[in-house]
Amino acid sequence: MKNYLSPSILAADFWNLGEQVRAVERGGASYLHVDVMDGVFVPSISFGIPILEALKRKTTLLLDVHLMIVQPERYIETFASLGADMINFHLEATEDPLGVIEKIRSLGKKVGITIKPATPVSALEPFLNLVDMVLIMTVEPGFGGQSLMPDCVDKVRELRKRVNELGLELDIEVDGGVKESNLEMILEAGANVIVAGSAVFGSNPEEHTRLFVEKMHVE
Ligand code: DX5
Ligand code: ZN
Repeated sequence: MKNYLSPSILAADFWNLGEQVRAVERGGASYLHVDVMDGVFVPSISFGIPILEALKRKTTLLLDVHLMIVQPERYIETFASLGADMINFHLEATEDPLGVIEKIRSLGKKVGITIKPATPVSALEPFLNLVDMVLIMTVEPGFGGQSLMPDCVDKVRELRKRVNELGLELDIEVDGGVKESNLEMILEAGANVIVAGSAVFGSNPEEHTRLFVEKMHVE
């Protein structure tokens, strides 16, 4: 499977957002991870529609939108029409995951389903053959800069095994607390899409993107 780096702009310097995005482009990032938080599903409020619109106008990176909002079904059309390339919604946030999957798919976008640390991999079983990607949170969603929970890396391993048993080609994305120091363990567990916020934008985003990309053998 190909590897992809998805720097999370939650950790970017918003005063210089455009330049920060250019830096990760130059560094060789594949995607841009866009964390949308509603203050209900998670305690924080981040940003949303206008930022996505601005990004879409100016970058060719694929926009990997992570919706941390309740009832994501209300906003799929909006985010799709604004240029999200892949839409990750939380299994815990909706009573109708199948409906959300269908909606994203019908709009021609890649479908990602996301689980919080306490949600078991078994909860994904009914959806594995319907989605393009599973996003395994390795911190409690809501804030950047937290430490990775090692138990959640075991979930990545369990999921990759299950996906292989089923003969599926599914991207497994890991989000939360990823550093250059724990990257290898996460890749080895079977993840192939890596989100990094503070590790990339904390200082010199171009250089840190390049370091990640080299370690990940991104083509
Ligand atoms: C957390 C967000 C993450 C966050 C990751 O709720 O979903 O994408 O930006 O930040 P780091 O890499 O700093 O843990
Ligand atoms: Zn995220």
